[in-house]
Amino acid sequence: MAADAHERYYFVREIEKNDGCALKVKQCYLGDVGCVVWDAAIVLAKYLETKYFYDPPSGVNLWAGSRVLELGAGTGAVGLMAATLGAQVTVTDLEDLQTLMRMNIQDNRSLISRGSISAKVLKWGDDVPDFTPPLHYVLMADCIYYEQSVVPLAESLKMLCGPDTCIICCYEQRTEGTNPQVERQFFELLQQNFSCEEIPSDKQDSEFCSPDIRILHIRRKA
Ligand SMILES: C[S@@+](CC[C@H](N)C(=O)[O-])C[C@H]1O[C@@H](n2cnc3c(N)ncnc32)[C@H](O)[C@@H]1O
Repeated sequence: MAADAHERYYFVREIEKNDGCALKVKQCYLGDVGCVVWDAAIVLAKYLETKYFYDPPSGVNLWAGSRVLELGAGTGAVGLMAATLGAQVTVTDLEDLQTLMRMNIQDNRSLISRGSISAKVLKWGDDVPDFTPPLHYVLMADCIYYEQSVVPLAESLKMLCGPDTCIICCYEQRTEGTNPQVERQFFELLQQNFSCEEIPSDKQDSEFCSPDIRILHIRRKA
């Protein structure tokens, strides 16, 4: 396919970073839900830059050298942000999203200096690659949205998390259709093995936050 024809399938979402650079994330006109950057991904990406995690003047950078995996990464926007902050990131999604994630990794390479990023297939509920030593963070943006995924997604989280892994889960709370039921089922199941702490809006990015988008820190129960 000619390069200009190829470009017609994509439109770019820019995500400005606090250091003045911008991630340029390709989204695809054709394809399933993972082909665009969802609002929860923007809220989560900007949360990763907040002072609790990343405050260069005071020497704080919890991302530096941390091992991070993103589930249902779609375009890879959130994982890319983590990698630019210094994390060693694996972005994962279904086979269909691998080309888009890899393209976005390639396009944003110049913003990644200390961190690293690679893309892998990971279907929720399937066996996961061996992450030894355990991951520091599992990131997920807008992954709680359909009924059949509730059990496999919770299974993946159990397989991926060690005692000190923190899942940072960001999702848009939707009131229509089966969304409230799916959300309730997911958290009921998760609470058998994990405890959840909601992050208040004053600890999120002051601009990129919204009353209907929740951020939770989720950890294995002792
Ligand atoms: C609503 S999209 C969110 C994409 C991205 N995290 C964002 O917020 O922009 C949900 C993502 O979950 C992925 N997904 C859905 N079911 C999955 C499964 N069974 N295993 C792995 N990924 C899955 C989709 O391919 C899609 O990329």
